[in-house]
Amino acid sequence: MSVKEEILKMFEGSRGDFFSGGELASKLGVSRNAIWKAVRQLEREGYQFEAVSGRGYALRRESDVISAQGIKKYLGRTAGNPDIKVYRTITSTNTVLKEMASEGAAEGTVLVAAEQTAGKGRMSRKFHSPGGTGLYLSILLRPKMKAQEALFITTAAAVAVARTVEEVSGKQAGIKWVNDVLIDRKKICGILTEASFDLESGELEYAVCGIGVNICPPEGGFPEEIKDIAGGVFDAPSAGDVKNRIAAGIIEKFMEYYANLPEHSFFEEYVRRSVIVGKEIVVLGKDKPRKATALSINQNCNLTVRYDDGTEETLSSGEVSIKI
Ligand code: BTN
Repeated sequence: MSVKEEILKMFEGSRGDFFSGGELASKLGVSRNAIWKAVRQLEREGYQFEAVSGRGYALRRESDVISAQGIKKYLGRTAGNPDIKVYRTITSTNTVLKEMASEGAAEGTVLVAAEQTAGKGRMSRKFHSPGGTGLYLSILLRPKMKAQEALFITTAAAVAVARTVEEVSGKQAGIKWVNDVLIDRKKICGILTEASFDLESGELEYAVCGIGVNICPPEGGFPEEIKDIAGGVFDAPSAGDVKNRIAAGIIEKFMEYYANLPEHSFFEEYVRRSVIVGKEIVVLGKDKPRKATALSINQNCNLTVRYDDGTEETLSSGEVSIKI
């Protein structure tokens, strides 16, 4: 680890506490000047410090910069020790992690970014991923499972996100089948799981579960095309370490569900959080949009709907989008 990474680990481990330059220098066996330079560099990256002469530096509690050290301090044992790589900006955490996966990266590798320049959504859409107000992460998985079971990765992730944002914000989070997380009827998170299969066995080689969370609306608001449907976990930038907390909460809960994926322990909660069951919806299929009532979600996470003409259909993900 570099001096900068070492001191960040100490500061993150004890936010608000002062460390003197001399103390840090002797702990790491480097000069005070090296410590000073590392603190300046962290400040340039957006970390907020308080400096008091005679006491040293303290990382402010409200500093809200994503870092591996900042995420790890919130992770409990169930998450294992994931290899977390953090980027200020990246094309797409999914795209880059898929490249790493095909070069042999290990299960549990996590890429986290503060901004994406080519964020991807479902059905070849773009995912708006501005810097500073969102959290974009992808987790690499190498499960032994068939293609049709991969949907459970996405649904487990949706429950992990809903639980986490609810814990951190105190606001109720719902899930819109199949993979959108909503607060106050606005989409605050989208999930895109991309997978590579072995054609002969039909088994997954790897899956990359990508999760994008709007922490708050971007300055100037969301773009025109999504402004009516998109929202943030918070209405405005929050004074606190929320991005690291949310990232850690999602990783931890997701890895817990993933460890027991065949048991689908999250399924009941997935259904309970559904915002569409029992509601009038519009099914956007390959043909023209059709009005329907959402009846139920079955154990395979498929949605049964009844159309206005009385016919019923069970939909699997990928075929449709739904407008509430
Ligand atoms: C959707 O709502 O259509 C899915 C959006 C998924 C966005 C996330 S952000 C992290 C990861 N990287 C991407 O390019 N996409 C996913």
